Amino acid sequence: MRRARSPLLLLVLSLLLPVAWMVKHENFKTCDQSGFCKRNRQYADTAASTSGWKAPYSLDPATIVVKNGQLTGTILKTVGSDTVRLPLTISFLESGSARVTIDEEKRLSGDIELRHDSKARKERYNEAGQYALVDGLGLNTKATLCSTAEKGTTVVGYGVGEKNDAFEAVIHHAPFSVEFKRHGTTQVQLNKHGLLNVEHWRPKVEKAVPEVPEGETAPPPKPQEEGEDESTWWEETFGGNTDTKPRGPESIALDISFPGYSHVYGIPEHASSMDLKQTRGGDGNYNEPYRLYNADVFEYELDSPMTLYGSIPFMQAHRKNSTVGVFWLNGAETWVDIVKKTTGSNPLSLGTKAVTDTQTHWISESGQLDVFVFLGPHPEDVVRSYGELTGYTAMPQEFAIAYHQCRWNYVSDADVIDVDRKMDKYQIPYDVIWLDIEYTDGKKYFTWDPLTFVKPEEMTAHLAKRDRKLVTIIDPHIKNTDNYPVVDELKSKGLATKNKDGDIYEGWCWPGSSHWIDCFNPAAITWWKGLFKYDKFKGTAPNTFIWNDMNEPSVFNGPETTMPKDNLHYGNWEHRDVHNINGMTFQNATYQALLARNKAEEKNPRRPFVLTRAFFPGSQRLGAMWTGDNLAEWSHLAAALPMILNQGISGYPFAGADVGGFFGNPSKELLTRWYQAGAFYPFFRGHAHIDTRRREPYLAGEPYTGIITEALRLRYALLPAWYTAFHTAATTGAPIVRPNFYVHPDDEAGFALDDQLYLGDTGLLVKPVVHEGADSVDIYLADDTSYYDYADYTVYQGKGSHKVPAPLEKLPVLMRAGHIFPRRDRPRRSSALMRGDPYTLVVVLGKGGAEGELYVDDGETFEFQLGAYIHRKFVYEAEGERLSSADVGTKGKGTDRYVKGMEKVRVERIVLVGVPAGWKSGTVKVTEGGKNWEAEVSVVKGGKGRADTAVVRDPGVAIGRDWEVVFG
Ligand SMILES: *[C@@H]1O[C@H](CO)[C@@H](O)[C@H](O)[C@H]1NC(C)=O
Ligand SMILES: *[C@@H]1O[C@H](CO)[C@@H](O)[C@H](O)[C@H]1NC(C)=O
Repeated sequence: MRRARSPLLLLVLSLLLPVAWMVKHENFKTCDQSGFCKRNRQYADTAASTSGWKAPYSLDPATIVVKNGQLTGTILKTVGSDTVRLPLTISFLESGSARVTIDEEKRLSGDIELRHDSKARKERYNEAGQYALVDGLGLNTKATLCSTAEKGTTVVGYGVGEKNDAFEAVIHHAPFSVEFKRHGTTQVQLNKHGLLNVEHWRPKVEKAVPEVPEGETAPPPKPQEEGEDESTWWEETFGGNTDTKPRGPESIALDISFPGYSHVYGIPEHASSMDLKQTRGGDGNYNEPYRLYNADVFEYELDSPMTLYGSIPFMQAHRKNSTVGVFWLNGAETWVDIVKKTTGSNPLSLGTKAVTDTQTHWISESGQLDVFVFLGPHPEDVVRSYGELTGYTAMPQEFAIAYHQCRWNYVSDADVIDVDRKMDKYQIPYDVIWLDIEYTDGKKYFTWDPLTFVKPEEMTAHLAKRDRKLVTIIDPHIKNTDNYPVVDELKSKGLATKNKDGDIYEGWCWPGSSHWIDCFNPAAITWWKGLFKYDKFKGTAPNTFIWNDMNEPSVFNGPETTMPKDNLHYGNWEHRDVHNINGMTFQNATYQALLARNKAEEKNPRRPFVLTRAFFPGSQRLGAMWTGDNLAEWSHLAAALPMILNQGISGYPFAGADVGGFFGNPSKELLTRWYQAGAFYPFFRGHAHIDTRRREPYLAGEPYTGIITEALRLRYALLPAWYTAFHTAATTGAPIVRPNFYVHPDDEAGFALDDQLYLGDTGLLVKPVVHEGADSVDIYLADDTSYYDYADYTVYQGKGSHKVPAPLEKLPVLMRAGHIFPRRDRPRRSSALMRGDPYTLVVVLGKGGAEGELYVDDGETFEFQLGAYIHRKFVYEAEGERLSSADVGTKGKGTDRYVKGMEKVRVERIVLVGVPAGWKSGTVKVTEGGKNWEAEVSVVKGGKGRADTAVVRDPGVAIGRDWEVVFG
């Protein structure tokens, strides 16, 4: 959250900040105001408008070596009569991905001079992979040089699987460019349009010194550089802050084209559609590139390519039958231009179908050029390959996917207990209550306000009685004040981020004057871990978890509300190089800390829960994210789902938006609709700004409280399905909530759709209501399969749009035929209290039958890694009319003990939807463990427009066993 109400702080801040309160654009750079973005866009314009323009980069054929799955060589950049040497590596990975890395020899060898006596590192930043990548870098040693390559090209064949020949990289030497082909067709092209630009190091030449006599110091400018606009090379000022840029210009840029692909998705975080727009103007397009520069954007606007809190430079391109992707591994400020070109639709080429190419232009301020190429061909392949590199989303504790009740602020320990009691009184389920910054003693983290949080240990103990949790906020800014041991240690141990002169950096945030922990420093993580020990952070208990906010980092008086780029981090890397990675390292420090709060837990840890606002590729391994400070407006409710869907396909699916909207007061209708939508966000939290009216669900009054409670109960009933979807995400990289294109990759009409979702593999299709006064929604069906209304079994069938009733009390949810999903239907106060509850299986019959899964473990520890879980596959065969449960887990040391503990957990109900017309009530045959018995089945005729259903009550089977129920 942002901005205090405290009049004193407001006054102090308004004196400090020369900005208005509703700041937006003027506080953040446009491409034109960001020197390197402007230069590279101009470069692109020059390339496009110069006939016969020749890109000045060529790969020296004499330097090419292909060995052990890698191609190395040197790219030569011609600048006038000089050449700049740029080492190139193309790695072909076992997974079928390829990685292209370009560095700069002169900087790499430290053969440059920095200005202003800077202590910054001289080489291009090359450590992003240390934070983002965890695996998947094994080289495919079978990648081979093709002998048939044309002159001027080098071709490497590679791929996956036995034949290992599906893919090819065609490397053109001059100008340097690469085509990546799958089965002979080009899918991704690097530098097709010649926009590769590596701004090489050069000394600053003081120009316009009139009286330099012939032959003395200042050399004449090089011909090619003549006329180059140097105004943004050496120093840049924005909003009263000057960036001293001791290394001069060093941006990198590259065009990446997707021939035949008309849709691209990804590169979060933006308040924009999932289907990315063009950025070079024109009707309905943006005029600015998508920007990735983690920032605390106050009251962000919608439908904008403006940067937000987190960055994932991973993009997918999609067309019918094919998905490919690129991952631009860079931690610096990055901009991405997107242009689509359609050809073949002119009258002369009658009969040929128009083909759209998407061209993208990636521009980063510093670092190596490092890009991964994924050749698909399916959406699952692309997200799996990306996840293999950066890690899959962490399996959370079960409580973390239940409902979270938050506000800025629950004002005292008594307030927390009161909210907890009222939730119980109104029988509203919830798992976690949250404390924002006001719980601290004067914004000093790891302390409690002595007047309002008098007995925090009693508060956590009270919550523990119903197995509920507390989340407290801990931010990376440490108050610069006396008598605060945390800041004393930060300083004395030298663990804070430094300014450009190498002194401790000081800026303003919530506490006023502050310092920032530098979590790039391993010693800082070690120290941070100590602060969370139960005997250090007194009042916390095993049911306390952590929220990391403001970790972009947000600095109220810094340029663009963040740190100066010439600040220095561990290893003397400039902040410029690591800005987008910074927030992840802080979340990581907290994650590590939660693993080691006392000796016993260190031995047998529980899964941490850390919410973060800033993120980077890899953050998904550490916890959940949310979309930051949204507004209590219908438009923000509508904007949330595209953002969450985009997170899902970008490898970070544990995502949510503040339910109710952070700023402002939602109407009761909006609040109710938001809870219905939020029940289908992977991360489900109600939150509100300090200036808003209280809005805990029981305050809304009827009918709203009752409807909200129903939405919460639906979430709780479906927790087994959610948990299973999280497991799938944690093992395959698949999104938890999925957009239409992902589920129906061949359905062109649905490629841009981002206002409805599928939950995992359950076949549940949800379209939240996001318009005031709506009493129906149009749900789009991508295929001719039957879909059934979740509540009343109304049948919807036929590709296209269907009107589904949606009065206030109804969230439109359909069940797609052919799926089976698990539920636990008994309402409880928290998820932990449901653990021993029996299951309901919902079998939605399709033509060929139905399938589904259940994954369940202890919901807390890491013992699932030892096989301590149940993983069942349910199959209904239409032909034999039989339903069976089979084990699909991998047995480990912990399996038997866990399964034994679950022996008594039964299936209490099987609901079959869409049963054949001939079915009658009677009995079914049940087989389990070699025994047979009968159970009763009752068939209910749906009547007009509704499906017939059948219910087997208490079939007597255990959830962890193999069994079979025969209906025929
Ligand atoms: C789609 O892919 C399949 C399998 O790769 C292929 O047989 C089929 O021809 C493709 N269809 C189109 C329209 O490209
Ligand atoms: C997280 O911290 C661990 C332990 O210090 C370290 O090994 C790892 O590289 C860190 N990861 C990130 C993403 O910062």
